[in-house]
Amino acid sequence: MTLENSSKVKKMGCSYVLYDDRLISEMNLQLFDADYLANNGSHTDSIGSSDAGIGRARVVYFIHNNITMVLKHYYRGGIVSALIKDRYFGFNIEKTRSFREWYLLKKMRSLDLPVPNAVAARVKKGLFFYQADLITQKIENTKTLSDVLSEEDLNSEQWGRIGACIKLFHQKNIYHADLNARNILLDQEGEVYLIDFDNSSIRKDDASWKMSNLTRLKRSLNKFKKNERNFYFDEQSWSDLVRGYQ
Ligand SMILES: Nc1ncnc2c1ncn2[C@@H]1O[C@H](COP(=O)(O)OP(=O)(O)O)[C@@H](O)[C@H]1O
Ligand SMILES: [Mg+2]
Repeated sequence: MTLENSSKVKKMGCSYVLYDDRLISEMNLQLFDADYLANNGSHTDSIGSSDAGIGRARVVYFIHNNITMVLKHYYRGGIVSALIKDRYFGFNIEKTRSFREWYLLKKMRSLDLPVPNAVAARVKKGLFFYQADLITQKIENTKTLSDVLSEEDLNSEQWGRIGACIKLFHQKNIYHADLNARNILLDQEGEVYLIDFDNSSIRKDDASWKMSNLTRLKRSLNKFKKNERNFYFDEQSWSDLVRGYQ
């Protein structure tokens, strides 16, 4: 993909950093250091690690140039994660998890899709493996769909807006590799955003992966419902979402 003028790649020691110089005037690797940020007044969010597949990484919110940003470190999921926590094999920098998510976010923003703005992607290269991080601009005043549903019921119009949002992505053939209730954000005005495009891609137009995206989301909602005492999701909610999608 061709880089916009504002996108810079910089080699810093064994790290490669891709960043938007409109948002970061001078790149400093401390921006990727969760411990440093956490010790300097930033807010850290730990996400339950017991529920593999729903979320495992830790994010750190911090302010840079008056913008609130979110640092995410990439952790492996599934069975491998017990053995290899956060290392990925491979050498092609353009194909690394964080660079790919960064490019995809920029692409989606150019298509006016409701996603966070990509700030910077870092790849720290080892001999046979790499570790990766991504910084995005925080979407303010939002809650994850899962958090909202443990507090309140959504009306059918709101469910419809979630379906319509997913449809926008599918119309542009964006496949979300992990569409679950923690990767959908809602703000107070009912705007819907999708986040966390790790391993996601632009695919060929095809109904079957679109359907499996939706099935995955339904599975995620049912899983929350099963595990939480209060969780406002039922078959009616789902049919309202599907109506919005159509
Ligand atoms: N740009 C953002 N704006 C607001 N909240 C965010 C943003 N990026 C991440 N978050 C919050 O951090 C959580 C984890 O980030 P995510 O990208 O989903 O990583 P992972 O699921 O791999 O831990 C999200 O569920 C959301 O609550
Ligand atoms: Mg997530």
